[in-house]
Amino acid sequence: MRPLQGPARIRRARVSGETFPHSIPEFPLKISFAPERPSGPYALALPVWSEDMLNDRLAALGEPGRTLVARAAEAQRFEREPGAVAEAFVQDGDQVRRVLLAGLGARRDEPAVWEKAAGAIVARLLTSGETRLVIDLSGAGADAEAASRVALAASARGWRYDVYRTKLSRKQKPTLEEVVIVGAGEGGAEWDRARALLDGLSFTRELVTEPANIIYPESFVERARKRLEPLGVEFRVLDEKEMGELGFGALLGVGQGSTRPPRLLAMRWNGRSQGKGGGKPVVLVGKGITFDTGGISIKPAAGMEAMKWDMGGAGAVAGAMLALASRKAKADVVGICALAENMPDGNAQRPGDVVTSLSGQTIEVINTDAEGRLVLADAITWAQREYRPEVVVDLATLTGAMIISLGHEFGGLFSNDDGLAGQLEAAGKATGDRLWRMPLTDAFDKLIESPIADMKNVGPREGGSITAAAFIQRFVESGVKWAHLDIAGTVWSDKAAHLYDKGATGFGVALLDRFVADNFEA
Ligand code: BES
Ligand code: MN
Ligand code: ZN
Repeated sequence: MRPLQGPARIRRARVSGETFPHSIPEFPLKISFAPERPSGPYALALPVWSEDMLNDRLAALGEPGRTLVARAAEAQRFEREPGAVAEAFVQDGDQVRRVLLAGLGARRDEPAVWEKAAGAIVARLLTSGETRLVIDLSGAGADAEAASRVALAASARGWRYDVYRTKLSRKQKPTLEEVVIVGAGEGGAEWDRARALLDGLSFTRELVTEPANIIYPESFVERARKRLEPLGVEFRVLDEKEMGELGFGALLGVGQGSTRPPRLLAMRWNGRSQGKGGGKPVVLVGKGITFDTGGISIKPAAGMEAMKWDMGGAGAVAGAMLALASRKAKADVVGICALAENMPDGNAQRPGDVVTSLSGQTIEVINTDAEGRLVLADAITWAQREYRPEVVVDLATLTGAMIISLGHEFGGLFSNDDGLAGQLEAAGKATGDRLWRMPLTDAFDKLIESPIADMKNVGPREGGSITAAAFIQRFVESGVKWAHLDIAGTVWSDKAAHLYDKGATGFGVALLDRFVADNFEA
């Protein structure tokens, strides 16, 4: 436990004053829907499936526009594959217009092609000098769902976080302000839902992108409060004193080497049973290590800055709660963030320390860098006692081994229930936040037995993601359906894709939003 006086207290004074120095940008691109193309200047994007459709769309441009674009497409080896873009400037009435052709590929049964096309178009135009973009879907067979996917991808791909970049040159600054989607209806209910999702996605990316001197347990709570309380989300926060009294030995052990005290945050959305205290909610739990140095089992210097996003699970939970509350989801959901900073100092926990978790089970802390499972253990115990859930899903950037297993395309899924695993896999397929089920059998559980305590916090190197899941499972009460998502490989990307630029991906937000919508709403 943190001493109440002495060095920790003196040092705490140094962290004060680090609040966020900027106002946070809201929705980045203005998105609207229109039956016809507007007048005036804009870049025109034409998503196309086939050669015939391409010729059809170009005919409307007249000559010489038609020939110019066709030649440009050929010269740029445009073959209409998903995500491919070709570009030309043509005379279009009284405008010199930039025209982009965007490929939709050949597979019409794959909803993600709309996102790929829209994402590629926006990526191309974001800093191009164009301020307005018209994506003309006329004749492309886009229904409301497709139109909403186009809007979602355009907005998601347009997201950036430039608040600390005070010296961007004119050419580096984004110019695109507005996207008009033509010829596919008004967006409707699908777009309302996507818009809520976008707010959640942006919030998660913001939290994940912020450095650890800005987002630490207390500031995470305050930033979430500012965004979520106005939407009707109920906040409960346990500080280190309350957690100490309750017996959060595993979580507090992780945080005790830091001058920034840990927090447990619970955000409750009662959408099904508004006001009545609620039934059994779905509980989402996120690992929120706002910086992971490894503690006394310290990590190597190279790349350690990445550990600012070791709160990606908590970030996804906060963003998902924002999305659910924004669209007034008809479900009861509690989002819990286990927030701590893992630092080495004179008060830090040592390898070999034995801590008593909130559940009463004791843990030998062999490696202080295996801290995520420790904070999750207490958070899950508390959540089960407090909310009596039938379903618990935790999300965590838990193990480097997960990245070795699945790379950056899939999150690892571990579960004690095939039905729940299936629901999460389906939500993953529908949203693009893909999951791959991993095994979880007794043999892995045996590998974390300890000679001195009820368990140790690491197993052997082999199967490291699975023994981590087996550890968490020891804190799941019988009868509770539980799934653990190890998202270490998917929270951050070193390369751009159709829904995000390099950096925070927002992985998990769309997945959780969909999981709740498909399984817990009337
Ligand atoms: N936060 C890390 C896992 C991680 C590593 C996430 C790289 C994203 C990228 C976690 O706390 C950790 O350090 N895990 C250790 C566990 C080991 C000590 C058993 C790891 O994976 O090396
Ligand atoms: Mn660690
Ligand atoms: Zn960690």
